[in-house]
Amino acid sequence: NKFSPARTTQTRGVDEITASRRLRRMRKADWSRRLVQENRLTVDDLIWPIFLTEGENVREEIAALPGVYRLSVDVAVKEAERAATLGIPAIATFPQIDLALKDETGSQILIADNLINRATRAIKAAVPEIGIITDAALDPFTSHGHDGILRDGIIVNDETVLQVASAAVLQADAGADIIAPSDMMDGRIGAIRDALDAAGHQDVAIMSYATKFASAFYGPYREAIGTQGLLKGDKKTYYLDHANSDEAMREIEQDLAEGADMIMVKPGLPYLDIIRRAKDEFSLPTFAYQVSGEYAMIEAAAANGWINGEAAMMESLLAFKRAGCDGILTYFAPRVAEILKG
Ligand code: PBG
Repeated sequence: NKFSPARTTQTRGVDEITASRRLRRMRKADWSRRLVQENRLTVDDLIWPIFLTEGENVREEIAALPGVYRLSVDVAVKEAERAATLGIPAIATFPQIDLALKDETGSQILIADNLINRATRAIKAAVPEIGIITDAALDPFTSHGHDGILRDGIIVNDETVLQVASAAVLQADAGADIIAPSDMMDGRIGAIRDALDAAGHQDVAIMSYATKFASAFYGPYREAIGTQGLLKGDKKTYYLDHANSDEAMREIEQDLAEGADMIMVKPGLPYLDIIRRAKDEFSLPTFAYQVSGEYAMIEAAAANGWINGEAAMMESLLAFKRAGCDGILTYFAPRVAEILKG
């Protein structure tokens, strides 16, 4: 064995091997590590996803997302105020719709005064300085939990796109700053751009969930918005196969051609390679969604004392920056903002 101690004594000394290169020199103290740090996480990188529900003064914890709550609109306004005070640039809203209002086509998404739009109006009125991102997707509104209109077992693409585009206009009317369609239907970005422009919303931006993978990491989110028990089958006919990277680049290329202003990769941590590739190939504003399952894994391990939760949270978020992200949607946003402030 050439690594046996006897052999080692006969090889070059460590100082000869390293010559003048000793990479540990810059790691020797906190000041020098800070000096050479290549990436940094700031509050400006954070987008906070929040869950909405009906009622007043409601703040109910989501079992699979400890520390994350469904909020009635009045409480969401207070939380948006807190987020703005912390310096968080934007929030993203996701509604839990009453079961009685869900149907086959998700028609509730076309109600101007639905839960999402009421929340947007209330938050915009109270906290005009925070950016509001709304998800123009049908899944919170459909009785089957799919992101599209379901007919004879098939998710119908073009009809879904027209409905999503109309919904996007209503969301913009309510004051949404960024429309973020997460349904992965073909042609949705172009249709939403046309509809927004025709309605006078030229300044409303589109963040495309361009590369959204069919993933097991969405589980807790589905509990949060109440689609967990409803979903029949899976979403593999519209979300990306998680084995594919070239196909993800083709999705981005297409969304860019149709008018996307920024793109998102979802889930986050298992897809850092996609983020890096997307940033290198397209140089677009690139975001990652650290999804519910990623949050839940860190929280669960931390609750069991198996990892240092705060350290893992900070490390995971910095990893997104290193991979090329301009920002991260994360349920940790207010907690991180507090730490960064402190
Ligand atoms: C669907 C949607 C999903 C998430 C947000 N919007 C995925 C899904 O339910 O299939 C997941 C977010 C998360 O897991 O945190 N339009």
